[in-house]
Amino acid sequence: MDISHLDTPSLIADLDAMSINIQLMQERINDLGLALRPHTKAHKIPAVAQMQIDAGAQGICVAKLGEAEVMAQGGIKDILITTPIAGQKKIQRLITLHQGHPDTRFIQVIDDHYHVVEIAKAASAANICVELMIEVECGQQRCGAQVGDALVELIQAIQITDGVSYAGVQAYSGHLQHVKGYCSRNEQARSVVVPLFDFIRSTLEPKGMAPQIISGGGTGTYTAYQGLGYSEIQAGSYLFMDAAYLAIGDETNATKNQQFSPALKVLSTVISQPTPSRTVIDAGMKCLSIDLGMPIVEGREGVRYQTGGDEHGILHHEEGCEIFELGQQVILLPSHCDTTLNNFDTLYAVQDGKVVSQWTIKGRGRSD
Ligand SMILES: Cc1ncc(COP(=O)(O)O)c(C=O)c1O
Repeated sequence: MDISHLDTPSLIADLDAMSINIQLMQERINDLGLALRPHTKAHKIPAVAQMQIDAGAQGICVAKLGEAEVMAQGGIKDILITTPIAGQKKIQRLITLHQGHPDTRFIQVIDDHYHVVEIAKAASAANICVELMIEVECGQQRCGAQVGDALVELIQAIQITDGVSYAGVQAYSGHLQHVKGYCSRNEQARSVVVPLFDFIRSTLEPKGMAPQIISGGGTGTYTAYQGLGYSEIQAGSYLFMDAAYLAIGDETNATKNQQFSPALKVLSTVISQPTPSRTVIDAGMKCLSIDLGMPIVEGREGVRYQTGGDEHGILHHEEGCEIFELGQQVILLPSHCDTTLNNFDTLYAVQDGKVVSQWTIKGRGRSD
């Protein structure tokens, strides 16, 4: 089917660009001597996670327990849950997840003694052991134990408690992923985690507390980590390369990142043309997120997208730009792939303008 036959708004993925991005990131991470554990919050589709694993990824990350349930159900066997959980309901779901998939490796991120005590209690009652990874603070000031005595005490607590085991540490600096300029981003990314690696060598290793896994990094920062001590990289957005990431710059260009190709797009239709310089399309905030800026109109240099509210997108064109026609399809590159994808039930895979496959976005809305 030609994409012109798709109803709109629809979410489409350029299959060739996506496959090249998967291959390229795997090669780059291999070259750094690290393992890749892609963050699947970007796509939420078990079949796409399997493509990443088939290309060499050693497992996946998910942000939430709900996403872990979807991925385990879809046959993925090595899953790191990168956000701490709290409350008896969640902890019981984590235990049930382990029991339902005894041949799958799950690692749960934590940062507090509460997590150790409560997860261990539930795991012991179920006669299982839950692997825990400690998130450490590295500049983002979101979750994360402080590097220092607090970290030592938390590792100790895991090591002496039945029902849990110590898998390693997570050091993710989300606040630096979109710093503009390759050198400045790399410098900042390294400098915020150097104290952690110094602490591992000076204190944790002599105490027999060296983490087996050190996990972190994203599409913006993975290049900074060679030789530091990370064992795996959690990048996710490289798969789709949204407009926000395209603007961060790379080794050769200060303002344009050309390492990966844009693969995620929203297909929309012109529904109104009130003036020659203002076109209205059927894609507003309920399908195109704007938390990281406005989407880009593909192939139309002089045309700028402005949100028109929940259901409308407004295209402003500079003088001299070719005018759109009512009913014409317009393709947009989302500014933020994660929050845009979460608005759709289906992702259409497209090659040479034809829909060749489609995936149900099984983790859509699974922020639970
Ligand atoms: C903990 C964690 N790791 C990795 C990633 C992936 O980063 P990116 O999508 O920027 O590559 C994210 C994204 O939000 C994250 O929250």
